[in-house]
Amino acid sequence: MGLGDPGSQPPEIFTEVPGPASLRYSTALEELEAPGINTIYRGRPSLLWQEALGSNVVDVDGNRFVDLTAGFGVAGIGHRHPKVVEALARQGHSLIHGLGDVMAHPQRVELCRRLRDLVPVRDRTSAQTHLAVSGADALEIAAKTAILHHRSLNRPRQSFLVFDPAYHGLSLGALALTSRDEFRNPFLPHLHPHIERRPFGGSLRKVAQLLEEGRVAAAVVEPVVGREGVRPAPDGWLAELAELCRRTETILIADEIFTGFGRTGRLFAVEHQLSIDDGSLPDLVCCGKALAGGLPIGAVVGRRQLMAAWSTSGEAIHTGTFVGHPLACATANATLEVVTKSDEPLAQRAARLGEGVAKRLASWPARFEEVESIRGLGLLWGIVLRDSDTAAGWSAKARSRGILLLAGGPEGRVAQLVPPLTIDRDLLHLSLDLLEECF
Ligand SMILES: Cc1ncc(COP(=O)(O)O)c(C=O)c1O
Repeated sequence: MGLGDPGSQPPEIFTEVPGPASLRYSTALEELEAPGINTIYRGRPSLLWQEALGSNVVDVDGNRFVDLTAGFGVAGIGHRHPKVVEALARQGHSLIHGLGDVMAHPQRVELCRRLRDLVPVRDRTSAQTHLAVSGADALEIAAKTAILHHRSLNRPRQSFLVFDPAYHGLSLGALALTSRDEFRNPFLPHLHPHIERRPFGGSLRKVAQLLEEGRVAAAVVEPVVGREGVRPAPDGWLAELAELCRRTETILIADEIFTGFGRTGRLFAVEHQLSIDDGSLPDLVCCGKALAGGLPIGAVVGRRQLMAAWSTSGEAIHTGTFVGHPLACATANATLEVVTKSDEPLAQRAARLGEGVAKRLASWPARFEEVESIRGLGLLWGIVLRDSDTAAGWSAKARSRGILLLAGGPEGRVAQLVPPLTIDRDLLHLSLDLLEECF
């Protein structure tokens, strides 16, 4: 597939963005949907998507964009990948809904087996999976696993070590782990009270002291901070954290929801720093986003010894109506096949394309006064702009030229470059050309 093929087409914009149809739908949504979630952001309506394929999104006005958000990182293998569509159709013709924790189905067995083979956790050959319905749900499960495990050992460890910045989801349990005040403050009195927050990538000397006190049940870390500003962990930092956790019997939870399945140039971002050989891998790995090619799912893959704490003599104590959903399991199996079995496995492709992106972006701070710095790896890049207005203005301009990207982070000034890992190389560089013209 090359530039100009379906899913790899250059942008084509026919209207103002958002166009008249987007504005019409937005007015309806503003009336019908609760504020905050109705896509009206700071009083401004957004565009509405009509269809998407590969790296392209077409809006309801017929404008064609290149999606450098990969749909919040979900479309790792591109939008509407033919293998995903095929799996969806096949599964849709046999079984759409199962019976959660009561009666399963074969796709679910296959998915758990694939995850055990792929996800880098300690003692991976015997690892087990706890499926989830979203990323935040995966974090809930991981945190509860830690609580249950220490409880099973009669070891009262109440605290969680987390980092700043960090994004782990917004459900009430996961929100306690997330760092941004904007999300936390309205619910502050209701959040888990025993949270120890330390600077991401900062000195681990005080962390060591904290862990040695034996109060911390688990450390939760994004190996590369994603949504909160794209920050790779400093060299050696994760390995040192992993070693501290192991020494103090603190459970290490890696949140790979954004970074998993090839995004950073390795299948999982922990693999940049942690090695299976020295036993430093995480105890639990949270997955979501790109796992199912666009369908909602999450998963926690973990050491069997920890998962054992979930066994009950009665009802499942963490489950949901849609857990292990057949459609999502089927598309996850198809997605993992594409991620790992393409002619060039997608993590490798992300690393290769990422080198070209890195070279180009490195020149931006010197060339464009709006750009303060650049950070990232693989196909996950953050462009740190001078301030939030500049970031908002630049991404709006990009949108009007047909490039979708999100600007955010704690100070609202980091634009994220998160293309599908399957993006055509020429289309990627054409998109960077257009972005440069927007400065
Ligand atoms: C690292 C990380 N963890 C957890 C989540 C929450 O996932 P979800 O939005 O599916 O609940 C996200 C979502 O952006 C994320 O990036």
